[in-house]
Amino acid sequence: MSFPLDRLIAALSQTGMTRFFQKLFADYPELLMKDQTVEAVRPDRTFKIAGRWVTNFGSDSFLGLDQDPRVQEAVERGVQDWGTHNGSSRAFSSIRPNVVAEEKIAAWMGTETALIYPSVTLANQGALPGLVTRHDVVVADQFAHNSIDEGMKIAKARGVRTAKFAHNDPADLARVLAELRPYRHALIAVDGVYSMSGQLPPLREFQQIGIETDGILYVDDAHGTGVLGERGRGTVRDALGNYDNTLVVGSLSKAFSCFGGFVAGPAAAREVLKLRSNSLIFGGPVPPPYLEAVCAVVDILDSPEYERIRGRLDANVRHLAAGAGGLGLVVMGGLVPIVSVLVGAEDVTLQAGRVLFEQGYYVQSVVFPAVPHGAGVLRIQVNANHAPAQIDGLLAALAELQRVIPLPGPGAGGVIRFPAAAAGMSAASIPA
Ligand SMILES: Cc1ncc(COP(=O)(O)O)c(C=O)c1O
Repeated sequence: MSFPLDRLIAALSQTGMTRFFQKLFADYPELLMKDQTVEAVRPDRTFKIAGRWVTNFGSDSFLGLDQDPRVQEAVERGVQDWGTHNGSSRAFSSIRPNVVAEEKIAAWMGTETALIYPSVTLANQGALPGLVTRHDVVVADQFAHNSIDEGMKIAKARGVRTAKFAHNDPADLARVLAELRPYRHALIAVDGVYSMSGQLPPLREFQQIGIETDGILYVDDAHGTGVLGERGRGTVRDALGNYDNTLVVGSLSKAFSCFGGFVAGPAAAREVLKLRSNSLIFGGPVPPPYLEAVCAVVDILDSPEYERIRGRLDANVRHLAAGAGGLGLVVMGGLVPIVSVLVGAEDVTLQAGRVLFEQGYYVQSVVFPAVPHGAGVLRIQVNANHAPAQIDGLLAALAELQRVIPLPGPGAGGVIRFPAAAAGMSAASIPA
């Protein structure tokens, strides 16, 4: 007997995206390096995956703090002092480390307050709809992260008008806002840094437009947190010189190597968000061990040691980007510690990832729909605790890859160029 659930799953398996992936899995079982299980991890950025030890160039623990003894000890202290979980929504109670972590984040960011959510995704899905009513509108950059899109859908379902404007285009933002008039307030949502292209939004222009049009800037700086700006505070303060009329979303999962996200801004906004963010009210919080770890990371970011860690990271990124460029490859990004090498067709991109893997290096093969069709890339994530020899090793593996598979070079005819033809390649569609 077939239940409705069986029939539903069968029907969903026929949808375009599911069929695409199922065909890809069926066509390239030996090439596919996705959905793997990591069996073991060592402190030197190697791990065991798909049955072998390789150097991991697929981690967004950019500062290498996942392996820092102070952060690890903080997690242990959190377990000893508070147990594994605080056992209720923050609508009922918060534990002391939650308060301390938020105070520390605010002091480090230079904002009045911060409010921690279990992830950036849940921050965007709770805060964005929570900040507007049907009198307001939400507009977002066309390439803003998927979770901003999801937050907008929730707002829309509650009667809020939403729209997209052309990527990084102040004139189009102004046009879209003018078309949406009349409204009370407009939330203008953008990414703080588009991780794949390395592009930054024109925040000053957006802020000016916001002030002139009853708009508020809402910046998802998940990729900038910890790796851009003074002491890793991200892109916003450095670009604007202040946080006027702006809310900043930061990540506690990527460079922080912990767990969660936060919204930083004025105290009054925090109070409203606490009452109006459903993901915060109806969902569980970041567990105590990770709150202790967040405190330990902020202490590191706020110390002179940060410059040393960041110096190592920047040197590693430069080393890799220059080396890959020197091989004649099309290299993209590099502002954040993500360097992408253009390959092209989906099957070739998967194969390229496999060739590097066979030589002892794990990188992510990113293919359609995360990037435009035929514009697959090898996404290489650089960490501060990669040894220079590991970068040299990866560069040698890339040189060997070029021998096995001819890769597009900057001068190659017919190559899909970035960002023009591959402009769809934004953080919006790249899995975390
Ligand atoms: C801009 C942006 N926002 C949100 C997220 C998702 O963050 P989280 O994993 O904390 O939900 C990411 C992850 O890649 C991101 O790049």
